[in-house]
Amino acid sequence: MISKKHVILIGMMGTGKTTVGQVLAKKTSLPWKDTDKEIEQVIGMTIAQYFSKFGEKEFRKLETEKLRELLSKSPAIITTGGGVVLKEENRKLLSQNGFVIQLKAQPEVIIKRIQQAKEMRPLLVGNIQEKVYTIMRARKGLYDFADWTIDTTELSVDQVVEHIIHLLNKRGLI
Ligand code: S3P
Repeated sequence: MISKKHVILIGMMGTGKTTVGQVLAKKTSLPWKDTDKEIEQVIGMTIAQYFSKFGEKEFRKLETEKLRELLSKSPAIITTGGGVVLKEENRKLLSQNGFVIQLKAQPEVIIKRIQQAKEMRPLLVGNIQEKVYTIMRARKGLYDFADWTIDTTELSVDQVVEHIIHLLNKRGLI
């Protein structure tokens, strides 16, 4: 069992954090917590609705608050929104409180994966292709503070989960 720390998944939208996190939680018997989902419960609307009503800056405040709250609780698999790494404060909080795993993928694969749920992602309104490349460029290096990085481009969800479990086992964390 993981003693003190959380296992935290970070990465661009469409890298599979949420799906991987849910399966990983089941397999490790740890609770699964997702910052976006938790925020939606508090605000009573979707993140997309909140963005259009109050803007990104207000959302980022809620995101940091929620992150602090989840990190202060008992060990969990925590999945985060892709933009959580934008604030240095968040990056510090994450690396101090958990084993941070970065999921990444080639932009073409990300674009394919998010085509279906694009209306859920306020930052991708318009030309998705262009937006994904622009966001990836703007965030270059910001995910690299992670303890581990897994390229999910050619992996299934189960393969990513197995990989993480192997890493956690090897480090004696589960
Ligand atoms: C965002 C990613 C989204 C969500 C919000 C902003 C981002 O989460 O937090 O739309 O800035 O990359 P996912 O990464 O789960 O799509």
